[in-house]
Amino acid sequence: MGEGRMTTETLPTAASYIIRQDYSAYSSEQHAVWAELVGRMLPELQKHAAREYLEGFEIIGLEKDRLPNLASISARLEPRTGWNSTPVSGFLPAPVFFEMLASRRFPTTTWLRSRESLEYTPEPDIFHDVFGHVPMHSHMVFAEFLERYGRVCAAISNAEVLEKLGRLFWYTVEFGVIRQDGEIKVYGSGLISSHGECLNVMGGHCAIHDFALDEVLNTPVKVDEMHKLLFAVNSIDQIYEAMGEAEHRAQCGQL
Ligand SMILES: [Fe+2]
Repeated sequence: MGEGRMTTETLPTAASYIIRQDYSAYSSEQHAVWAELVGRMLPELQKHAAREYLEGFEIIGLEKDRLPNLASISARLEPRTGWNSTPVSGFLPAPVFFEMLASRRFPTTTWLRSRESLEYTPEPDIFHDVFGHVPMHSHMVFAEFLERYGRVCAAISNAEVLEKLGRLFWYTVEFGVIRQDGEIKVYGSGLISSHGECLNVMGGHCAIHDFALDEVLNTPVKVDEMHKLLFAVNSIDQIYEAMGEAEHRAQCGQL
């Protein structure tokens, strides 16, 4: 806790990627695009998102009709879990990404997709990063999981091991689903921030297996098609426990 207040001096590798969000530079058209993106996802999410996500949405104070100010979001988030949404210039090399997660700073892009590409952007934008990811950072166990993920990965240089851990990230943080009240609900940012991906799962076009670490670590990621298989946990505790097992295996050279 409290580590979210670290300065860039304590993050030497990340410092050159950290920028300032120029909030006043957003145009009224950009705020309108944000409002449209939120407006088309929220009715789906009220039916299909995990309760942890919906609670987080309220906790961090996301607004429906204007872009998020990252400093305001972080001011609400940090006292709860120590996480901070830190504006960055764009794609980060993996070691920088891990270093930031390990210090509870979530690298957050500040640009927004245009009206012409509402459904898809090849790289994450502020809608994916903030609307998709940040609400979950207000959940205590998820917050611990994500820091631990960064800490473990930061200490690993073996590319094969990192690829396997990348799958754990992909099938939880990005495309995780959870069983709640007898139904499948979404908590992964890639599902939360994509109408098509969310409907693919909710429309029954994707098989759902019970989350099992071995199967997750051995299921390659495909980024160019809708998912055909995802993994459901019964609680967020389960991903924290899986991370502990993955860390143990990595330390023993068994990952
Ligand atoms: Fe993401």
